[in-house]
Amino acid sequence: MIYSRIIGTGSHLPEKVVTNKDLEKILDTDDQWIRDRTGIRERRISSDKEPTTVLAEHACRNALEAGDVDPGEIDLLVMGTTTPDLIFPSSACLIQKKLGLPDCGAMDVNAACSGFMYALSIADKYIRCGDAKKVLVCGAETLSDLINWNKRETAVLFGDGAGALVLEASEEPGILSTHIHANGNHADLLNTAVGVSRGFEKLAENDGKAELQMKGNEVFKVAVRTLGRIVDETLAANNMKKSDLDWLIPHQANLRIITATARKLEMNMEQVVITVDLHGNTSSASVPLALDTAIRDGRIKRGDMLLLEAFGGGFTWGSALIKY
Ligand code: UT7
Repeated sequence: MIYSRIIGTGSHLPEKVVTNKDLEKILDTDDQWIRDRTGIRERRISSDKEPTTVLAEHACRNALEAGDVDPGEIDLLVMGTTTPDLIFPSSACLIQKKLGLPDCGAMDVNAACSGFMYALSIADKYIRCGDAKKVLVCGAETLSDLINWNKRETAVLFGDGAGALVLEASEEPGILSTHIHANGNHADLLNTAVGVSRGFEKLAENDGKAELQMKGNEVFKVAVRTLGRIVDETLAANNMKKSDLDWLIPHQANLRIITATARKLEMNMEQVVITVDLHGNTSSASVPLALDTAIRDGRIKRGDMLLLEAFGGGFTWGSALIKY
């Protein structure tokens, strides 16, 4: 049996920090509201010189270095992003060039905030079927480019960043299972409603800016319900109990959603990796950012059982059970 094992992780955040107090100066909001309702204290915002692929390049280099992997050994690059630098070439192709990867397959996956879970699932399947030995998986976003900085409902929530990991084929477990889902019926609750084949005229109505729109309260309720279901599905698929888990590495959108999932899993908050306070919702970068943080600070150790999960626009959602 072939498994995918994580052999290196990395992450990267832009330099510019924007605190809740900074946002108080430009919006009708306050630090207390943001912390109470979301758990966010600050976020990082990329400069013009830090598009998605630059953040991704740093995170990937860190992951390759941590795994002692030469770029030439990579068989596939799968990149979760909903904020690519260009329409094409894909961000994966741009990163492939920056890193000097061989002419391996390189693809973007757009599943909004679940992009990394989708990318991880694809990478795992390539390794399990024997078509790849080492795969680089990345989640990177510059969602700040889609934010209307006059709208407090969304401006306080999001930030930019990147996370990555290297998977290697191994006889030792490994990723035990991945699960991905989507339901396009609620596209109106969370979207950026401009695109290539329809909708570009909306840019003209909005000073050339594409804008992320979210009915936060409604998304919140679906997210809590759906994440509750997927953690059950993941444990059942592996014949495991809640008590078998050592760590929850959740999508970092809102501390209250994270707490609800932890409660459902009967985990105490010391077993939950939380980074949302330091970078807000970084979409597909959030799970690998949190994972890298807890591996580097020594909380997550070899042999620990990890549950990763995410929920995002589409709606999309996904999870992975991993013996680290
Ligand atoms: O990653 C993809 C998935 N996304 C998510 O999972 C996000 C899901 N949603 C959420 O995290 C939460 O719904 C929010 C953090 C977006 C909002 O929290 P909420 O508790 O659902 O607040 P709400 O939307 O019901 O708004 C409550 C009040 C409203 O005022 P009134 O109508 O009660 O007077 C809002 O106008 O809070 C007001 N409000 C704010 N006040 C201060 C909304 N945004 C702000 C703000 N500062 N930034």
